[in-house]
Amino acid sequence: MLDFLGDLKRTHMCGALRASDAGKKAVLMGWVNRRRDLGNLIFVDVRDRSGVTQVVISEEANTAIHDKAELLRNEFVIAAVGTVKLRDSNTINKNIPTGEVELVADELRILNEAKHPPFLPSDTALANEEMRLKYRYIDLRRDAMQFNIELRHKVALAIRDYLASQGFFEIETPFMTRSTPEGARDYLVPSRVQPGTFYALPQSPQLFKQILMISGFDKYFQIVRCFRDEDLRADRQPEFTQIDLEMSYPQPERVWETVEGFLTAAFKAAGHQINAPFPRMDYDEAIRLYGIDKPDLRLPAFAEVRDCFAAPDLQTLAVHPDLPVIAIRIPKVGELSRKERDEIKPMFNSKGGARLFEDFKRIEKNFPEAAKKIQEKCAAAAEDLIVLVSGSAQSGTQDHPASKRKVTPQELAIYASAGLLRVALGQKYSARHGLFLRGDFRFLWVTNFPMFEYDEADKRWVAAHHPFTSPHDDDMDKLESDPAMVRALAYDVVLNGTELGSGSIRIHRQDIQRKIFHALGMTEEEAKSRFGFFLEALEYGTPPHGGIALGLDRIVMILAGAESLREVIPFPKTAAAKDLMVDAPTPVTDAQLRDLGIAVAKK
Ligand code: AMO
Repeated sequence: MLDFLGDLKRTHMCGALRASDAGKKAVLMGWVNRRRDLGNLIFVDVRDRSGVTQVVISEEANTAIHDKAELLRNEFVIAAVGTVKLRDSNTINKNIPTGEVELVADELRILNEAKHPPFLPSDTALANEEMRLKYRYIDLRRDAMQFNIELRHKVALAIRDYLASQGFFEIETPFMTRSTPEGARDYLVPSRVQPGTFYALPQSPQLFKQILMISGFDKYFQIVRCFRDEDLRADRQPEFTQIDLEMSYPQPERVWETVEGFLTAAFKAAGHQINAPFPRMDYDEAIRLYGIDKPDLRLPAFAEVRDCFAAPDLQTLAVHPDLPVIAIRIPKVGELSRKERDEIKPMFNSKGGARLFEDFKRIEKNFPEAAKKIQEKCAAAAEDLIVLVSGSAQSGTQDHPASKRKVTPQELAIYASAGLLRVALGQKYSARHGLFLRGDFRFLWVTNFPMFEYDEADKRWVAAHHPFTSPHDDDMDKLESDPAMVRALAYDVVLNGTELGSGSIRIHRQDIQRKIFHALGMTEEEAKSRFGFFLEALEYGTPPHGGIALGLDRIVMILAGAESLREVIPFPKTAAAKDLMVDAPTPVTDAQLRDLGIAVAKK
């Protein structure tokens, strides 16, 4: 028989009682975390989100509740009424904050039973991920998940408070809207009233926030869900949350200060102090030094070591005459066995003919002079791993629309291949180099991105950020004549090798926006049919504006030290974009489809 809660009131959370509460009456409510039956004494650990308290039920004191306590099983929901008592010194549990006390019960109510769950919140070994997601409500009861979700709440709250204090208004924008180009596929919602037409769920509120600037709100933010149908990875979910903001009349530095301000507040709420302003780096420099536009500054930068070799050595090694020779250094890796050295090769993903040098050991043996110079140039200690990457004959020098850039496409391929290997080696040997410390947060602004990227498959220029990003004032005249050389007023904020956020100063003039659409190969008609409403809005007095969006999930993931966004999103999707708990997506009835005027094609 279950008991009713009735008018029984909880006096304390399960993590609240301390030695100073001894002698007080208390009413606790929560789940049975564990029950130990010693015959005439039963110990029940009762748990809620704040912690655990030991409840003692003695047969001598009260047979009726002792009988009741014998019925208790894990995850039953109970209320325990009793007196707080200091534990004997030999039974104090130093591992929990309530460990000096226990509640001696004189009343016990069983508020609900629980089936034996597929895994217990108190289990030390983690259940497999499928189970965890199917029984998410059990998984969320675990300490680690309770911690992560609370952390998420604190971080979001600190950001909201900070932005509100800086004069930003939080303004909602629609979820049922039309496509915004952020580079992914849209999730579509069919309209019943207008059969054959569809809303798109927003990939971001990009155009709405720009329209809010046209509407005079001056400073907008929103902690907002975005939807993108794209291949999922550990740091991507189909629905995720952005800290999205936009402001009128800013230079990029104003946006950066705002982001630095709210990140400082968010990290403080999570118990960390970070230093602002963050360092800044041009995109070209990031590529040259790290081979990637989101450098992890915890590992050393590349060294360019071509000049460490004598000319004939370069010929013997069949190194491409014009392309860089890059040394990657990973500190403190120590001596590697032959087998371990062989494991490096399959980690190398060669782009555009980039080539991994056999082995630094061989260089040391066959070109000792060069090896010595390389070690000096990299400031390498004896236990550091050095790996060399260069161009090969296959790197070619073919014409490319972007070949006039400071970093040519051929060079980019080499840098990028080396950049990915650097990150992979950094992760593989992280236990040895010990540089990936919890709490070591290395932020960076990456700026001056190219405005356009060349799409080899479609043979056309595409927007590197999105088509509403403003070109650099000095590069406006190159939009048509030399798109490769146009820089964007775009910036990314990067943390420890993860892109946290992306933003830009926007185009606020209709003539320039048209030019950009044109440079992207859009006809007037296409531009009008996709963005006519926006082009029109731009004509009614649009102030210069700019902004940014950061991934909240990614910030919390890094703060939680988690490996996947699934650890910080209460109800995430699997890699196949499924929700295993509610079992979505699902087919719908024929009647629903008929209503929507939709027929499903058989595969
Ligand atoms: P962008 O597309 O770069 O820019 O997105 C901004 C940030 O959102 C996060 N993010 C994601 N997080 C989890 N799962 C995903 N699938 C996912 N996709 C993106 C990342 C990313 O840095 N409208 C522009 C912003 C602007 O220009 O103001 C935009 O959405 O942390």
